[in-house]
Amino acid sequence: MLAFIARSMAKPVRLVKPVSLVKLPGRYLAHQEGLPCLPVPPLQQTLDKYLLALKPLISQEEWSHTSELVEDFRTSGVGERLQKGLERRARKTENWLSEWWLHTAYLEYRMPVVVHSSPGVVLPKQDFVDRQGQLRFAAKLIEGVLDFKTMIDNETLPVEHLGGNQLCMNQYYQILSSCRIPGQKRDSVVNYSRASKPPTHITVVHNFQFFELDVYNSDGTPLTSDQIFTQLEKIWGTSLQTNKEPIGILTTNHRNSWAKAYNNLIKDKINKESVRTIQKSIFTVCLDAPIPRVSDDLYKSRVAAQMLHGGGSRWNSGNRWFDKTLQFIVAEDGSCGLVYEHAPAEGPPIIALVDHVVEYTKRPEMIRSPMIPLPLPKKLRFNITPEVKNDIEKAKQNLNIMVHDLDVKVFVFSVFGKNFPKSEKMSPDAFIQVALQLAYYRMYKQVCATYESASLRMFRLGRTDTIRSASIDSMNFVESMDDPSKQNQEKVDLLRKAAQAHRAYTDTAISGKAIDRHLLGLKLQAIEDLVSMPEVFMDTSYAVAMHFNLSTSQVPAKTDCVMCFGPVVPDGYGVCYNPMEDHINFSVSAFNSCAETNAARLAHYLERALCDIQQLVQHTLKSKL
Ligand code: COA
Repeated sequence: MLAFIARSMAKPVRLVKPVSLVKLPGRYLAHQEGLPCLPVPPLQQTLDKYLLALKPLISQEEWSHTSELVEDFRTSGVGERLQKGLERRARKTENWLSEWWLHTAYLEYRMPVVVHSSPGVVLPKQDFVDRQGQLRFAAKLIEGVLDFKTMIDNETLPVEHLGGNQLCMNQYYQILSSCRIPGQKRDSVVNYSRASKPPTHITVVHNFQFFELDVYNSDGTPLTSDQIFTQLEKIWGTSLQTNKEPIGILTTNHRNSWAKAYNNLIKDKINKESVRTIQKSIFTVCLDAPIPRVSDDLYKSRVAAQMLHGGGSRWNSGNRWFDKTLQFIVAEDGSCGLVYEHAPAEGPPIIALVDHVVEYTKRPEMIRSPMIPLPLPKKLRFNITPEVKNDIEKAKQNLNIMVHDLDVKVFVFSVFGKNFPKSEKMSPDAFIQVALQLAYYRMYKQVCATYESASLRMFRLGRTDTIRSASIDSMNFVESMDDPSKQNQEKVDLLRKAAQAHRAYTDTAISGKAIDRHLLGLKLQAIEDLVSMPEVFMDTSYAVAMHFNLSTSQVPAKTDCVMCFGPVVPDGYGVCYNPMEDHINFSVSAFNSCAETNAARLAHYLERALCDIQQLVQHTLKSKL
């Protein structure tokens, strides 16, 4: 989902353990090998589309200047040379893009993972209101994740499809037993799921204290939720004190600062062992203190903030290890969800797991296991030296600034869901994206570069490309919508044209023919070949095209939940949505430090845009009858 561009010019260094090289089981490998390789689109095609994509974003004068640069890039031989380099790379690798993307979008990105990279998921509020309920639910949830893990381990997860094509399943093998590790210049990801002795424990955090909880019996069977509940009670009972140093706060810092603090932290043998235990664990469960009460209207937004950053150093932010790929969060007041570190996977595999787990938690208790006494879960110790304490204090300060800066609004649009656009023979995703364009245009009287993530999982090790939702067609529609000189019929025609253009871009993107990753590849190839950076990438228009004021993503789920993430530019919005049949769950984020943006305001304009478009379509239909 994240609209990152190549920010780093650093020369590539090999990953400690590349995510894509984790040893995978046989049957899965056969499926993977049957998938096509990501193509390198033809150069001319990308350059033409790039110029087209710029049209709604820049002036005619700027466009003419950029056209000349593009023409020069194409005819001077530089473009061809870089293109050949990319094609060579494509012949030599499983996926010419995946490692580059992992590095530039995630591992070399130096901003904190909190808010800037890691998405959160807001799950429906659970009906418990006390500790017993919290621990019962957490136990069932853990059992549900282990049930999903069994499907991954047995390779019985059904292969997913998109438009009739099989999808790459690699990301499922990256989300458990993995963790990001900070590094100077570049982080790495470790994955223990295929280690000779895979981990059998999870980490549980309560009151900032971490515990290693073994979730398998000695015969390899997973603990039942009854057993897990008993273990969680023990953890709860031994972590009642709240005066502990919130060691997890360190993971919220800027990556360079955290890398420095990390090396300092693990100098101590006990600290190193504890950190390693967290990194190796299958996943983490955060047993949070209740979040401050707010009105029903604000509740979901409050939970979204809780998932994204934990509420600050005085609340639950210390109850996390943000480098951990998967952290489920269960608070005493019934609010729950998760936060995940983005490097190993996109939203959809995480949501598939969530859907499974949420259904699992609804199952009635089947077996009451014999209560064989289980060992006390091991508390992970940390030696807090004055230096570590100082690093924690600095991380707290930075985190609290980020917490205050995040403006997030989660809401349910309940007038209609996917059903309405479908009944009008329009793609629901395109409909929502066009409405977003209208909302933004009404607020700012201009169009902005807009990113929507498109899955590249039809290809081996595929991640994402960009659907550029701001097009000439969407601009024509949004300009016409409030124009009194235009007839409704004309507006509807422009709407349909904009929606069709969006759907066509989507099809182009998911079949590997979009422009963003190709342009990134050409740029990185230039860095790798050590040729001087072609002017086309130094051009202001390129910077405008890559400045995504709207960074958006559809993450559909069966569960009535929503994913949320932060904006990718200081003056932008992050918008995520889950279109259900008769309503749509939205999350909108912005930064308070930017005077021009306001999440609730965009949410309001978005609701209005959706309703106005519906009315336009319905009214025009009626008048035609
Ligand atoms: N008339 C009637 N129905 C239509 C239609 C039309 N013209 N066009 C589409 N539909 C239907 C589809 O058949 C589908 O039906 P279903 O609900 O029964 O499955 C439904 O409407 C949704 O289709 P659409 O809205 O077009 O979107 P999509 O499901 O094809 O998704 C993307 C589009 C871009 C979201 C998807 O291709 C994708 O890439 N997803 C991954 C994004 C991602 O990775 N995000 C996470 C980043 S962290």
